[in-house]
Amino acid sequence: MIDFNRKTILITGGAGFIGSNLAFYFQEKFPEAKVIVFDKFRDESRFSNGNRTSFGHFKNLIGFQGEIISGDITNKEDLARLNDFKFDYIFHQAAISDTTVQDQKIMIDTNLNAFRDLLQMAKRHKAAMIYASSGAVYGKLPAPHKVGVEAPANIYGFSKLAMDYLAYEEMKKTDLPIVGLRYFNVYGPREYFKEKTASMVLQFGLQLLRGEKPRLFEGSDKIKRDFIFVEDVIQANIKACFAKKSGVYNVGTGKARSFKDIVDILCKELGIQREYEYIPNPYVKQYQFFTEADIAPTCEYLGYEPNYSLEEGIKADIPYIKKIYDEEIV
Ligand SMILES: NC(=O)c1ccc[n+]([C@@H]2O[C@H](COP(=O)([O-])OP(=O)(O)OC[C@H]3O[C@@H](n4cnc5c(N)ncnc54)[C@H](O)[C@@H]3O)[C@@H](O)[C@H]2O)c1
Repeated sequence: MIDFNRKTILITGGAGFIGSNLAFYFQEKFPEAKVIVFDKFRDESRFSNGNRTSFGHFKNLIGFQGEIISGDITNKEDLARLNDFKFDYIFHQAAISDTTVQDQKIMIDTNLNAFRDLLQMAKRHKAAMIYASSGAVYGKLPAPHKVGVEAPANIYGFSKLAMDYLAYEEMKKTDLPIVGLRYFNVYGPREYFKEKTASMVLQFGLQLLRGEKPRLFEGSDKIKRDFIFVEDVIQANIKACFAKKSGVYNVGTGKARSFKDIVDILCKELGIQREYEYIPNPYVKQYQFFTEADIAPTCEYLGYEPNYSLEEGIKADIPYIKKIYDEEIV
């Protein structure tokens, strides 16, 4: 295990869901690490789909004592503020994480062009680059999803695949570790401020606590995804720092579970019995009906092993779901 104490760590997107969990991981486990969060934070601007253009929120960072820099990864002047540091590790989480955004230019500018600049920064700093790719690169391909066979069904998945191709090119030119992590469907604490794009674990949990019927898409017992608890995503990021080989790896549990399973588990954990409501799926055309990560290479080259089944992850998430309900909803 690497001792991150006295190391300088950059977390882009550190005010978001996964980035803020990483920031607290380092603060708690390696109090002498210097952690810098760089994030655009949210403002009032919205995409044409009605969602915010960025989801970073100060409440995800309450208690975080490292340095915080507000800035946009697509703005070179903002990035220049990072020249004051000498990074050992870069965890690049900042992105348009909303898979329903249609604006292709801003998606490519934010997810791909900015990554090009950050890869150059990693080289200048001689830093390891661990970045967030996505299971969305597989689109509607049949599972299990293996690195090397991709067919994104939307501009988000396309932008993440283009990041991976760029990373492969850079891997040929440098010995510095570059690891892309294709997260599947992540859920867990600090995701509330993603609003409508937060995981269905949180959304169903809040529907149940509000006394509503959980709203599932028709056929939800057969719509299956590889749902992964955020603690396992953090584990993958940490293990990526001492990967046996640079590369792109899937981060999931390797087991597809249905949306109905989520509601069943939540009902059990919350002690709630309620009828379910079934609604038509408006996203049918670009919807992933079955995702399951092949995690064999992740286990072999990163030493990664998922610790949370869906049952265990939801159980661990319940205090957060209740806290959000108490603090933000009632
Ligand atoms: N959560 C998931 O299920 C999931 C699955 C696959 C991949 N990912 C990827 O993981 C990463 C983290 O996702 P998340 O779920 O934490 O999402 P998130 O939206 O909570 O976090 C992304 C953060 O990036 C920031 N950001 C956005 N645009 C920026 C910009 N131009 N400059 C600076 N900061 C900017 C946002 O403010 C936000 O805090 C993203 O790259 C996302 O695409 C997430």
